[in-house]
Amino acid sequence: MSNLIHGGDLVSAAQRYGIPVEDWLDLSTGINPAAYPVPQIDAALFQRLPYQSQAFSDAVANYYGGEGLACNGTQQAIELLPKLSSERLVGEQITYPVLLPDCGYQEHRYSWQQAGAALKFYCANDHQQAVAQINQQLAKAEPCHLLLINPNNPTGLQFSPEQVFSWAEQMTEGSYLIVDEAFIDLCPEQSLLNDYDRFQQLGNLIVLRSFGKFFGLAGIRLGFVFAEPRLLNRLKTELGAWAVNGPAQAVAIDALNNQCWQQQARQQIAANAEVTQALWQPLFDRVGAELLCSRGLFLSARLESEIAEKIYQFLAERGVLIRLVRGEELGRSVQGISTEQSASICLLRSGLIDATEENQCKKLEMVISELLLTLE
Ligand SMILES: Cc1ncc(COP(=O)(O)O)c(C=O)c1O
Repeated sequence: MSNLIHGGDLVSAAQRYGIPVEDWLDLSTGINPAAYPVPQIDAALFQRLPYQSQAFSDAVANYYGGEGLACNGTQQAIELLPKLSSERLVGEQITYPVLLPDCGYQEHRYSWQQAGAALKFYCANDHQQAVAQINQQLAKAEPCHLLLINPNNPTGLQFSPEQVFSWAEQMTEGSYLIVDEAFIDLCPEQSLLNDYDRFQQLGNLIVLRSFGKFFGLAGIRLGFVFAEPRLLNRLKTELGAWAVNGPAQAVAIDALNNQCWQQQARQQIAANAEVTQALWQPLFDRVGAELLCSRGLFLSARLESEIAEKIYQFLAERGVLIRLVRGEELGRSVQGISTEQSASICLLRSGLIDATEENQCKKLEMVISELLLTLE
């Protein structure tokens, strides 16, 4: 794994700010704060080797709409896929270039770089610009993989399934279209897997689904890859035996089959997103922050780096952890802004408050009010 900065690192924050881990309000991730209630787990599942059970495969097929390869979180697949897609192309280890969002989950960029691929970027802050840049690349009809994070973390950029299928149809032989759908569970009808037949027919699509975000259980490390059988088999060989442990399978069977919880969770997440935005808005208004995305499991706002750093620091000193996406991480093509200027722009990303936890709301409200007073 890389040394890239990720959200949710409360241990480091606790050390840095001298505040015990349990006293933090962690808004630095896009993980559902109202997690799926973990069921009682049969002790035998800790004792036996975790061969994949039929009940697990059935639950996966029912929830996602097709047969996926389970791994320890999609992070594991993100690390392996660039190496595998490079081998497939030619006898030698030649990797095609890849077109990536200029701002997105950084591990993608890192893995392709490690695999020796030439990196190209499209703008992840503006839908029209992104579509134009991707179309331009496809029009060249040269081998090039395409990576979409749909919806994008942290900018919220999202493409329709029709658009993505149409791009997959235009791609040259040997190029893959990888779609990271880590945050699609809130609108499952927007997943490519919803039209599983078309997905399968195309053969050059790879879909990644993360279990941890929507179900709020990132700690069990579970994710799924959907792709053509040959690539899946090679990935399976790389993952080795017993890729997913028994307790994780048991929790996933329960959660994936529980449609009632899933429906309620979608409503609760929408309500939590509204509350979270309402708590942030007075500060955003005051500092002139532009809200980029507010639906889903996080909200992102664009603002000047100097004030963003001040906000980050003020909150962290009071036990509230958020995530800043700074300078080069933010990408080269923030719309309408030159490269030099983009260094002075930051994205502030906040995870969701659990509105049923009154002290969480109060804590954020209080810290933001206090901060507003200092800005008078
Ligand atoms: C867009 C995106 N994809 C994939 C991942 C990896 O998630 P996991 O390994 O838990 O499936 C993350 C984690 O933050 C992410 O933001």
